[in-house]
Amino acid sequence: MRYRSQQVAYWYFAVAMLLFGLQIVFGLLSATKYLGPDPLLYVLPFDVTKVIHTNLLVVWVLTGFMGATYWMVPDESRTELYSVRLAYWQLALWAVMGVATIIGYLFRYGTGNKLLEQPLPSKLTVVVVMLMFLYNVGMTIRKAGRFTTSEGVLLIGLGMAAVLYLPALLEFENYTVAIFYRWWTIHLWVEGVWEMIQGGFLAYLLIRLSGADREVMEKWLYVIVGLVFIAGILGTAHHYYWVGVPHYWLPIGGFFSALEPVALIGMAMYAYGAIRRTGLAHPNTLALHWTIGSAVFTLFGAGVLGLAHTWPSVNKWTHGTLITAMHGHAAFFGAYAMIVMAMITYALPAMTPDRREEGSSLGYWAFWLQIGGMFGMTLSFATAGIGQVYLERILGLGYLDTQLKIQVHFLMLLATGGIFALGVGAFIWDFFRYRPRFEVIEESAVRAGAPAGAALTGASRIRAV
Ligand code: HEM
Ligand code: HEM
Ligand SMILES: [Fe+2]
Repeated sequence: MRYRSQQVAYWYFAVAMLLFGLQIVFGLLSATKYLGPDPLLYVLPFDVTKVIHTNLLVVWVLTGFMGATYWMVPDESRTELYSVRLAYWQLALWAVMGVATIIGYLFRYGTGNKLLEQPLPSKLTVVVVMLMFLYNVGMTIRKAGRFTTSEGVLLIGLGMAAVLYLPALLEFENYTVAIFYRWWTIHLWVEGVWEMIQGGFLAYLLIRLSGADREVMEKWLYVIVGLVFIAGILGTAHHYYWVGVPHYWLPIGGFFSALEPVALIGMAMYAYGAIRRTGLAHPNTLALHWTIGSAVFTLFGAGVLGLAHTWPSVNKWTHGTLITAMHGHAAFFGAYAMIVMAMITYALPAMTPDRREEGSSLGYWAFWLQIGGMFGMTLSFATAGIGQVYLERILGLGYLDTQLKIQVHFLMLLATGGIFALGVGAFIWDFFRYRPRFEVIEESAVRAGAPAGAALTGASRIRAV
């Protein structure tokens, strides 16, 4: 750790880990309900467990983003954080909001707007938390008077993620209008500005882990971000096919969303290129696994499996089925869960000095069980989804009759979900088993321990602004 205030990241990561664990409990609970009979039907029905599962996902991933930002910004701007106290208040407010919202769902207190179910008081708290966060980070950079391109991309992503949450504060009587604007938040988050956040972390990690040249890496980062926007903004229309808006959105959505994987191919090539050019120089090979893994799994989950159902003539059959869940899991995991775990794995050895930097075998188990488990879950959702589309949409069988016919895939989902959960358990256990000790290591020591040209090539090239 080069700056004392970077320790706030640890507590953000710790909260993220707890919420991640809870998210998986609610995922498994949701999956068991496909099999029925459901003894918890009147206490915790499927809609409640699912909303808790997806909201916990969004909250823990955002907690991870914030912690990782508090770790990265001092490193990149070479300064202490503007206010450690503000960062802790922010975390406390955020955690209280998250827990209160989840408890609220247990009592059916929510808006019912998928993924944006948070009631208004929670939404307003989110806005306050984001303002605290952006102010703290902005003042840190102002104080330092310097920032890097990776940091800039990350911060624009975070700032725009906050702005794009604003449409979620509005309520509309008309369902079509409500859905139309819902995607301004959800789609433009996951297929736009969150990809900038992922790109910012990815560039930071690749520069530090592979020792790749900062100027080259940051130039390509611009290209990737540009591609994301060219395709992603109008790609929103791939959610407008069947919601009651004019027909012209069909070709627009089909064409632009089909271009989206280009940016994701670029991202995977970017990561692969960095390690090919410079080799696996850094001792923290586990963090490198998560980093490269994130770029590759995003290409699979978002690029390939997104493309699989984005064309209107396919989406006509698959819309809102388990095919959507197939893609949603693989994409979210690859892009956002994995990049947060990459940042955690990179930062953790500096905050828990008893840990071996190259990662423990438990850490590798956590990685491979999650990769294997998620791949299996994706296949289970896919096979269930194909069966569902055929029976329900093509043959016209009723929804529940269809569910009964695809039970075997749900058993497979539970089995592979169990493997995935073991991987998550291993990651969380590995996170907490070493006591944190926040020792500041002088720049010269960092220099001595760094692989040839890694951190320092980067740091010495930081542009002053
Ligand atoms: C990291 C990037 C991505 C993530 C995290 C992600 C996640 C998701 C999620 C969670 C949903 C379900 C949303 C809902 O119904 O409320 C969804 C839907 C969808 N995604 Fe993605 N996605 C990503 C990228 C992509 C890309 C690149 C494409 C196309 C090439 C794509 C195509 C689609 C389509 C067509 C739907 C609508 C499915 C339906 O009609 O039910 N996604 N995505
Ligand atoms: C043991 C692990 C998990 C299990 C068993 C599980 C199970 C489920 C189930 C049953 C649903 C409801 C799907 C439906 O509407 O029919 C769901 C939704 C969802 N889960 Fe998971 N999940 C797990 C882990 C995860 C992880 C790690 C992520 C992301 C990183 C995730 C992201 C999502 C998303 C985005 C949705 C909403 C998808 C949609 O609306 O189409 N889940 N999950
Ligand atoms: Fe989308």
